[in-house]
Amino acid sequence: MTQELWTSVDDYISNLFVPFDPVMQEALGTSEAAGLPSISVAPNEGKLLMLLAQICGARKILEIGTLGGYSTIWLARGMASGGTLITLEASAKHAEIARINIVRADLTGVVEVRVGSALDTLPQLVAEDRGPFDLIFIDANKDNYSEYFAWALKLSRRGSLIVADNVIRDGEVLDSTNNDPRVQGIRRFNQLLADESRVRATVIQTVGRKGHDGIAIAVVVAE
Ligand code: SAH
Ligand code: DHB
Ligand code: MG
Repeated sequence: MTQELWTSVDDYISNLFVPFDPVMQEALGTSEAAGLPSISVAPNEGKLLMLLAQICGARKILEIGTLGGYSTIWLARGMASGGTLITLEASAKHAEIARINIVRADLTGVVEVRVGSALDTLPQLVAEDRGPFDLIFIDANKDNYSEYFAWALKLSRRGSLIVADNVIRDGEVLDSTNNDPRVQGIRRFNQLLADESRVRATVIQTVGRKGHDGIAIAVVVAE
């Protein structure tokens, strides 16, 4: 009953605030048809990402974990005109689908999809001096979130926003004895985020069609 209610309320919110959009619908459709997992952000969270990009006047965005590009398109739509977004994806197949969706969203030349493990592509971005990014969205494999956060800090400036998805995972993060490397990875990340004096941060737990989870939001206050 609880999940049913959360899903219905998510539908209610989406009906009010996320009007039907053929590009977004097709991005999800293409991803599903290609057999990608249904783990894109929910529509209302996608819109939150767009709003955050808009609020911080983002002109340079970095995303870690592209999948089919659904969250990518939301973020890109929140950018100021002339902005650019780099999104990192380990799977060549996911990247290929994302590129198709990005073309359909009219974001060719705005979004760059880089294939490779983010632990390899993040140092490249530093070497190429591609930072600082105005907003960084962390949403790839959960066991490496702490490392992604460290790279995000290197690629930030004072005022940059760092956002991370899936930081509550059905409340599993409460259990310090949980052996799932994803849960341990998120626990390490949340602790690191809380202890890091260079950011001011909080976590909001969420319920909805994707169950019980949470989103971390941090602003960089010192370099
Ligand atoms: N942000 C997407 C969902 C991302 S799902 C959205 O909301 O629409 C997580 C993605 O991270 C998957 O596509 C997975 O292939 C990718 N991933 C997993 N390990 C990775 C790694 N080491 N480096 C980069 N991407 C990785
Ligand atoms: C998973 C990953 C995600 O980014 C998400 O939002 C939900 C689930 C996963 O790997 O299971
Ligand atoms: Mg996620």
